[in-house]
Amino acid sequence: MAFNRISAAEAASLIKHGYNIGLSGFTPAGTAKAVTAALAKVAEEEHAKGNPFQVGIFTGASTGESCDGILSRAKAIRYRAPYTTNKDFRKAVNNGEIAYNDIHLSQMAQEVRYGFMGKIDVAIIEACELTPDGKLYLTAAGGISPTICRMADKVIVELNAAHSKSGMGLHDVYEPADPPYRREIPIYKPSDRIGQPYIQVDPKKIVGVVETNWPDEARAFSEADPITDKIGQNVADFLAADLKRGIIPSTFLPLQSGVGNIANAVLGALGRDTTIPPFEMYTEVLQDAVVGLIRQGRVKFGSTCSLTVTNECLDGIYQDMDFFRDKLVLRPSEISNNPEVVRRLGIISINTAIEVDLYGNVNSTHIGGTKMMNGIGGSGDFTRNAYISIFTCPSEAKEGKISAIVPMVSHVDHSEHSVNIVITEQGVADLRGKSPKERAQAIIENCAHPAYKQLLWDYTKMAGGKNQTPHAIQAALGMHAELARSGDMRNTNWAEYVK
Ligand code: COA
Repeated sequence: MAFNRISAAEAASLIKHGYNIGLSGFTPAGTAKAVTAALAKVAEEEHAKGNPFQVGIFTGASTGESCDGILSRAKAIRYRAPYTTNKDFRKAVNNGEIAYNDIHLSQMAQEVRYGFMGKIDVAIIEACELTPDGKLYLTAAGGISPTICRMADKVIVELNAAHSKSGMGLHDVYEPADPPYRREIPIYKPSDRIGQPYIQVDPKKIVGVVETNWPDEARAFSEADPITDKIGQNVADFLAADLKRGIIPSTFLPLQSGVGNIANAVLGALGRDTTIPPFEMYTEVLQDAVVGLIRQGRVKFGSTCSLTVTNECLDGIYQDMDFFRDKLVLRPSEISNNPEVVRRLGIISINTAIEVDLYGNVNSTHIGGTKMMNGIGGSGDFTRNAYISIFTCPSEAKEGKISAIVPMVSHVDHSEHSVNIVITEQGVADLRGKSPKERAQAIIENCAHPAYKQLLWDYTKMAGGKNQTPHAIQAALGMHAELARSGDMRNTNWAEYVK
């Protein structure tokens, strides 16, 4: 079947006010770009005429500037799920302008299938190849594309020449059946392939193909700094010690690691530590650092949902596909992040906290308990099911005015029941096998910044020692209240709470 070649503007004109649109991609990798950018113009024109124009967005994770950025500024988003990192989107969410549903990334595709979020009118999918019978070869991410291609009424394909066709075959497309018919997901090692390298789309649903040449909009990372380097080293040393004492099997276990500078520093340190054998990744995002480690033979295999790498790095992979073909697989997010597989493979998860409390509860999403930062992403999918779950963060933020270790987190994403290890540049708190009071000791002693240790010890004194999880409940958010009042948690005065 010959598909209609249309412009991005023509494709955008097929999308009406009130539609829900499903997007390919996961992080800026593999996200549709041209049609969403054109859609922002449609929204602006409609708004100028006094007409409403907003859509719902369903996607794998964050997108790039040409989606979340442009559409947020055009006030064209009514609803969105799940994770996002865009500053303008964040501003709009915290201004009450967008309904944001922040769910675990592994659940996104299945919640669309279960009908929890309403119907998808149009799917916009970036591909590097589309065959006449509707076989669609994705680019740099799996995301929720298989599900939205099947569920959407119409499909628009962005055929993006910036992604080389040499990437065909990287994907392993598999969509589980829904209960009560679901079976086990037959992945027993990170390199297992269980599906097809393409998505089979009903050709009749493809209403247009937009040809583009638009590179992914991945962020470049800032230079490593001494704090992130120290955190990375602490993680590597901790894992090497657990390996040495036999807690981690001698073959090592697959790693999941989040996105960002800390993740890059952790992987850099793990790569350098040759007491750790070459290892595998079963993760949702794979960054430049891992690609380098694959080239060096330090990482044997990478299973991921997306190649969240710089364009230079991505081009390098496409050029060296003969080398990478048996060392990489890209999966849909419900498989890359699947709790069943994470637990079976014994993943070591490494994610970043905004703040951690004395008992090991972790806040990954909210500033000051109320303002959304990015979202939970896949951190919950991995943490709850990991062999060892690790959270990292600098011990303080904003030039020391904020302590990342607080008496009680202002929002809970990962509870004390799921968090095994907390690591800052100060050291490592191993919470495994400990009671809440023992956990508090380990966290203050090993992870808090020296400027905050006494304040935290004083809090524990005030909280007393008899209850299972001691708190001075009237003061539990006292450091946050002080930050709001004076702009510096160091000014917290517990005496105010015991009057
Ligand atoms: N209170 C207030 N602000 C804080 C803070 C705190 N306790 N801790 C950090 N911040 C601020 C920082 O100062 C920084 O501000 P800036 O952007 O104005 O410089 C910002 O939050 C980001 O902190 P940073 O230290 O640069 O960390 P990061 O870029 O690694 O992001 C998370 C940290 C938690 C926001 C990020 O990892 C995330 O979104 N995680 C959830 C999703 C996830 O884990 N996914 C799994 C794998 S991808």
